[in-house]
Amino acid sequence: MTKLVFATNNAHKLQEVKAMLGEEFDLLSLADIGCTADIPETGDTFEHNAQQKSDYVVNHFQMDCFADDSGLEIDALDGEPGVYSAHYSGTRDMVQNIALVLENLGENQFRTARFRTVISLSIAGQQHFFEGSVEGRIITEERGVAGFGYDPIFIPEGYEQTFAEMTAEQKNKISHRAVAVEKLIAFLRSQ
Ligand code: IMP
Repeated sequence: MTKLVFATNNAHKLQEVKAMLGEEFDLLSLADIGCTADIPETGDTFEHNAQQKSDYVVNHFQMDCFADDSGLEIDALDGEPGVYSAHYSGTRDMVQNIALVLENLGENQFRTARFRTVISLSIAGQQHFFEGSVEGRIITEERGVAGFGYDPIFIPEGYEQTFAEMTAEQKNKISHRAVAVEKLIAFLRSQ
């Protein structure tokens, strides 16, 4: 089985990708390879941040690796919160992060946005990127309790429910992360 590191500490993400990848790959998390470092994410693009993480593992552990970086881009806020999605308000508290997004948008009627994921894969010394996005809009108050992050204020295009009002199964069919992971898996299978 081909060993491949997924540079994440998020057990949920790891499980999800493991289930999709099947038996061909032995997918290892950062914990599995004994990487306890707080890997820097100092880039101003998802691509840069994802590559910083995959490069870190390649350079320190000499193993093939992929890493992801995601966030919410709101057109009326010039793409913010973007790479700052996890700590937009200066804290990781999503109540405050969502409150700041809604405050910054105010009464603005132009509320289009998208979630975007970029996966950086470094394999056999080659660099590849895979991207996924889901278009939608930001509503004026939170709805729903499922999911995480900005899910309660995001309605994907073609739907009436927020991501937080959908089941995990529904969201995972159309999410930015699912689209990017499917591209990654198609590539790995073709190798
Ligand atoms: P990460 O790079 O996947 O860890 O995502 C960074 C941040 O973007 C998260 O902390 C969330 O605030 C936001 N985010 C990413 N994906 C989602 C999603 O599917 N729903 C809601 N928020 C998300």
